[in-house]
Amino acid sequence: MDRLVVRGGCKLKGRVKMSGAKNAALPILAACLLAEGKSVIRGVPVLRDTRTMLEILRELGAGVEISRSGAISVDAVSLKHDTAPYELVSTMRASVCVLGPLVARLGRARVAHPGGCVIGPRPVDLHLKGLRGLGASVSIEHGYIVARGRRLKGAGIYLGGPFGSTVLGTANVMMAACLAEGETLLENVACEPEIVDLAAFLRRMGADITGAGTHTIRVRGVRRLRGASHRVIGDRIEAGTYMIGAAMTGGDVRISGACREHVSALVDRLEEAGVRVDCRDGEIRVRSEGSFDAVDVTTHPYPGFPTDLQAQMMAFATKARGISVITERIYPDRFMHVSELMRMGAQLIKEGPRVVVKGGVRLSGAPVMASDLRASAALVLAGLVARGKTEISRIYHLDRGYEEMEAKLGSLGADIRRISS
Ligand code: EPU
Repeated sequence: MDRLVVRGGCKLKGRVKMSGAKNAALPILAACLLAEGKSVIRGVPVLRDTRTMLEILRELGAGVEISRSGAISVDAVSLKHDTAPYELVSTMRASVCVLGPLVARLGRARVAHPGGCVIGPRPVDLHLKGLRGLGASVSIEHGYIVARGRRLKGAGIYLGGPFGSTVLGTANVMMAACLAEGETLLENVACEPEIVDLAAFLRRMGADITGAGTHTIRVRGVRRLRGASHRVIGDRIEAGTYMIGAAMTGGDVRISGACREHVSALVDRLEEAGVRVDCRDGEIRVRSEGSFDAVDVTTHPYPGFPTDLQAQMMAFATKARGISVITERIYPDRFMHVSELMRMGAQLIKEGPRVVVKGGVRLSGAPVMASDLRASAALVLAGLVARGKTEISRIYHLDRGYEEMEAKLGSLGADIRRISS
């Protein structure tokens, strides 16, 4: 298993370009299954998760080709299978978003139940509620979600749950509704930029969707969809991670390829802490002297502060002047990074879904273990400001979601290297 070795003390400086958004690319690749034709998707990041999605599409009988420029074509003219197997789904929860397209296109789907993961229980009840609302019969059989429905029917469906809206649930039901008969009104849906991007692709395929980006989406079903071309939006979570890295290290980094509007909640917190953020000519520039104030952070669905930046922000808070309170409202158990940061000397007190961070501590490098994707990123950031060497194991988590992280950080001056074993 590969490890990353980070030596702390550098200031990140220079320019860096963001990759396409993993969390937009995954449902968009799944949406290709809806078309009786070939779609071409550009800007798909080369990651373990996107490779898994392509394997699933192949498993279902779609033709998948990757051009030299990295454009991915998915030919879904004839789908041979209706099953997304456990071996693949268990490695990536987002595989569940082939469920909606498959049942809408084939009238049946078998997708391994993704179960929970290290960031806590991750139910799919809202996905199933939405598909049932469209008239599919859905059952759990031998660890598989089995959905059947000859022609789905448009309906009014409320998709809110105890933790607010669901991103992939919204994606699944919106995709299925595209081929349903009549009109579907989805209420309390996710309005994340990744949903807006998916809706843009679906419209190119011939879908009739309005309201994406708000809490209510209206879909007028059509008989068939055609293949289309699309470029995936830039990754706001990758951008946020580099922004936090620039601020923590007292650096000066210009980030391109990501949209400023998509990181407003983070900009607000960084500015509150005294970090300078400017946007010009499509670049987000983050500058700091390396000393900044504590800030409280509470995660919320978009446009609130993203849960996918909570761990990185905790690393930031360890260095801030004063006490920060970090509250997780999307995944109350998403705190696997807490004990690893404490191994590096962070002063953290966890009380339920909240962590009190006593800042102003100089972290010291240590061997630490990555537990999930964003926790891994937090450990890398912590390593950049720690005294001495931090060795991060199990970085296959990082490889699920950050394209060429060590090359990008290296180009900004970080002392970071991968050790393959
Ligand atoms: N939830 C339910 N029932 C459901 C679905 C979700 O109660 O049927 C709850 C979840 O347990 C959670 C909340 O609703 O408390 C929100 O979960 P959501 O469904 O929005 O999460 P997701 O769609 O499965 C996506 C991202 C995650 C990101 C979350 C929240 C992808 C592939 N994944 O997951 O990204 O944390 O939205 O923004 O888009 C990551 O990239 O590291 C990552 C985990």
